Amino acid sequence: MTEGDLQALGEQALEEIAGAVDQDQLERVRLKYLGRHGGLISLGAQALAQAAPEQRAGLGRAFNAAKEATEAALARRLGELRASRRGIDQAEEWLDLTYPTSPLPRGHQHPVARLIREIEDIGRALGYESVRGPEVEDDQYNFELLNLPPDHPARDTHDTFYLAGPAQGWLLRTHTSPVQLRTMMAGPPPYRILAPGRVYRRDNPDPTHNPMFHQVEGLCVDTNITFGDLKGTLDFAMKAFFGSSVKTRFFPSFFPFTEPSADVQISCPFCGGSGCRKCKYSGWIELLGCGMVDPAVFGFVQGKQPGYDPKKISGFAFGMGIDRIAMMKYGIGDIGLLYSGDLRFLEQFA
Ligand code: PHE
Repeated sequence: MTEGDLQALGEQALEEIAGAVDQDQLERVRLKYLGRHGGLISLGAQALAQAAPEQRAGLGRAFNAAKEATEAALARRLGELRASRRGIDQAEEWLDLTYPTSPLPRGHQHPVARLIREIEDIGRALGYESVRGPEVEDDQYNFELLNLPPDHPARDTHDTFYLAGPAQGWLLRTHTSPVQLRTMMAGPPPYRILAPGRVYRRDNPDPTHNPMFHQVEGLCVDTNITFGDLKGTLDFAMKAFFGSSVKTRFFPSFFPFTEPSADVQISCPFCGGSGCRKCKYSGWIELLGCGMVDPAVFGFVQGKQPGYDPKKISGFAFGMGIDRIAMMKYGIGDIGLLYSGDLRFLEQFA
């Protein structure tokens, strides 16, 4: 084998390498030229060993040049083929429109939110519009305009959280009743509203108390609204919510912003009134407070909004706690579970 032969073999190898269309073909070209047994360029090493001493240097240079150029070309072409192969793989993967997606976790309503929606649905059927009031209130709306002046003893059960610093004077509302006043201040009657939402009291948490809980407020103001309307509305609503066999009964009570006032009990929807753990074996469950809007409250509003002459209009209001109903309905022993965010608890309501 001569220097010329090696040079020609090298050029031939480069051509075949450039023409290889896949890795298999490239491997065959590699074996043909550089294969250890019988590769055409590799045979140059034998020729070198047998060559006359004066030819060795030139033959060696030609052999090394052909071998290195071939190896470099093989490596480059292999890289090219791999890259284009990757391109094909990616295109196939990204264009596979039938590839299944990973399933999205599905949420559901919180049990308290679900009850609020059910109550709002019943209210809507009776012409009650759902409204929301702020959870941060001032003393005026949470107390004074509700006929609870400073130092009124009824404030004792409504201790709450007070904001400090620049927000001094603001507090977290202790009931949804301020929404009554916000509704009145916003315009004249007639209207019927339901106002669900969070309320706060400075209670130490225990299985039946949580410093934050939920109420739904109701307010109906018009001409000639009577206590009979209040009784009929609540009786209808309780039957719609708990079942048509549920009975209601009204007991005299006191709230500074309603006169007369009443506490409402329903016959136990769980045992039908015969007595069970949920009604503490009394057959009745106390559910809400209510009454006719105190004329003094209309009087406070009258200065800001004409149309609230206590001699011309009347109305009733009621307020109901939601959390206790949720606990009874779903058999929840600890109110804190409702706010723990524990999915093992919450997922039972899916
Ligand atoms: N706001 C009262 C409470 O939280 C309940 C209530 C609402 C009573 C409306 C009468 C009328 O105790």
